[in-house]
Amino acid sequence: MGLRFTLAITGASGSAFGVAALRRLSANPAVEQVALLLSPTGKRCLLDETGLTPKDLAALPKVGLRDERDLGADISSGSHRHDGMAIVPCSAGAMGRIASGVSESLVSRAADVCLKERRPLVVCLRETPLNRIHLENMLRLHDAGAVVMPIMPGFYSGPKNLDDLFDTFATRVLDQLGLRESDARRWKG
Ligand SMILES: Cc1cc2nc3c(=O)[nH]c(=O)nc-3n(C[C@H](O)[C@H](O)[C@H](O)COP(=O)(O)O)c2cc1C
Repeated sequence: MGLRFTLAITGASGSAFGVAALRRLSANPAVEQVALLLSPTGKRCLLDETGLTPKDLAALPKVGLRDERDLGADISSGSHRHDGMAIVPCSAGAMGRIASGVSESLVSRAADVCLKERRPLVVCLRETPLNRIHLENMLRLHDAGAVVMPIMPGFYSGPKNLDDLFDTFATRVLDQLGLRESDARRWKG
């Protein structure tokens, strides 16, 4: 049986990082299914920053769009076979709701399910500078089992363009989901 992941794009700048992670998940042979979620502001940021719509992303192989208001969707239940979730980018608002256990949308509910079922949850916060509430929420999520991975791309791989930068960061996200992809840009010492 193949692996099933969720990729959420919330209302923060940097949706191109989420698109790069989605493309990598979609192309990975070990992956059977990717549930795609976008918050309303996530959709707006996606269109503003990349020109893409949720429908464009749902056209990728194995990707299935979920309605983020549908709390009865498959990924809303711990009994659904599922292997982890990444939120790229994650807004400070979405992070706060997850850190407080407020499961009012499918993004926060699916994340809550990952934490309770001890499945990987990768939270790629995009905000700067950070206030005390953000810092405390990051620690709360870390302590609850999430990987807090702010969008802080590395430059040691010598990116030639922005796509290289997005894709290298996407590889690190997949690493945290347990998918070890080949990547020519990994540090070799
Ligand atoms: C164009 C735009 C850009 C935004 N960028 C950020 C951002 O980079 N980081 C952040 O934490 N919030 C950002 N926000 C604010 C969040 O979208 C807002 O707090 C929202 O309620 C978050 O909820 P969501 O994550 O469910 O979309 C932005 C909002 C807009 C409209």
